[in-house]
Amino acid sequence: MKIGVLTGGGDAPGLNAVIRAIVKTATHRYRWEVVGIEEAFEGLITPDLQRPLTLQSVHDILTLGGTILGTTNRVNPFQYRRVVDGREEVVDMSETIKRTIVASGLEGVIVIGGDGTLTAAHRLWQMGCPMVGVPKTIDNDLQATDVTFGFQTAVTTATEALDKLHTTAEAHHRVMVVEVMGRYAGWIALEAGIAGGADVILLPEIPFSLDAICRNIDERRRLGDHSSIVVVAEGAMTSGGGRAVVGTSPEGYERLGGIGSKVGEAIGRQTGIDVRVTVLGHLQRGGSPTPFDRLLATRFGIAAVSLIAEGKFGQMVSLRVPHIVAVPLEDAIKGRKMVDPDGEMVRSAEAMGVSFGR
Ligand code: F6P
Repeated sequence: MKIGVLTGGGDAPGLNAVIRAIVKTATHRYRWEVVGIEEAFEGLITPDLQRPLTLQSVHDILTLGGTILGTTNRVNPFQYRRVVDGREEVVDMSETIKRTIVASGLEGVIVIGGDGTLTAAHRLWQMGCPMVGVPKTIDNDLQATDVTFGFQTAVTTATEALDKLHTTAEAHHRVMVVEVMGRYAGWIALEAGIAGGADVILLPEIPFSLDAICRNIDERRRLGDHSSIVVVAEGAMTSGGGRAVVGTSPEGYERLGGIGSKVGEAIGRQTGIDVRVTVLGHLQRGGSPTPFDRLLATRFGIAAVSLIAEGKFGQMVSLRVPHIVAVPLEDAIKGRKMVDPDGEMVRSAEAMGVSFGR
């Protein structure tokens, strides 16, 4: 038996750990062959982008960030962009993909991705393709799993940055504004903010007011703290305001960014304090996965192979602490998992004096 694996969407630390677990489990437990499908769904449209994955191919990749298969969020099988005679056209390639899967002899395809990639996998499964999902995103905003791998590594990177910014902020009596990723969810900002001892945390889920932020910073100064750390999620916005957007991708996705500078300038203007802004950006997607993420990614990879062995297609592996379970792909893509503005973590942080700008 032969199965395929692809990675889609933005990369997340732990992708290679999943691929490794899939190859090792398929080889040792089932004696199956594994095919690596490169460049996300592109590798199911252009069969040249497929190669055998052996134990040798996955040697030494457990600790490696990125993905040995390459990834992209630019290939939507149902709205595939191609250039014909110099003109761009958008076509539905799903039937081609279905044929490629059969022609390549793949009896199961493991799709490791976030909401966009898993939505495509779900639609392909509805057409009769043998798809199985593995959830991935540093944003941790996927429904139907307690957590995604990559998230904890991103939180660790952001927390380490905050640790470093504390000392320079204190030395210069400055306000340090740090913009973190997360798209429309504030999980990275919330967890790194609390773990990194931030004084103000701004989340997409809680519209903020500049006055509330400045009140907190002024109050801290009155009490003798002359530096403050402000963590801003890239999707945060003022009450009544819009999101900071740097552009739109060709596929129509909003590219978020710039809220850190806006908040920093406004704080400087209103308080007269020296402010510096740091945008962590793609640093949060890089590096070696933390042990937690390696373990979760490995468990997901093993479970995904088992789903194929059991013939459970159209399902996604998921962590429901302490178990790895299977959930319908449909449940995973229903909506975003957001921070609860009145949940325990936000309320506990507020109890310690952290401001969410409300
Ligand atoms: O979804 C992961 C993520 O890193 C988001 O946090 C961020 O908004 C986006 O991807 C950035 O995408 P790109 O790599 O296309 O700039």
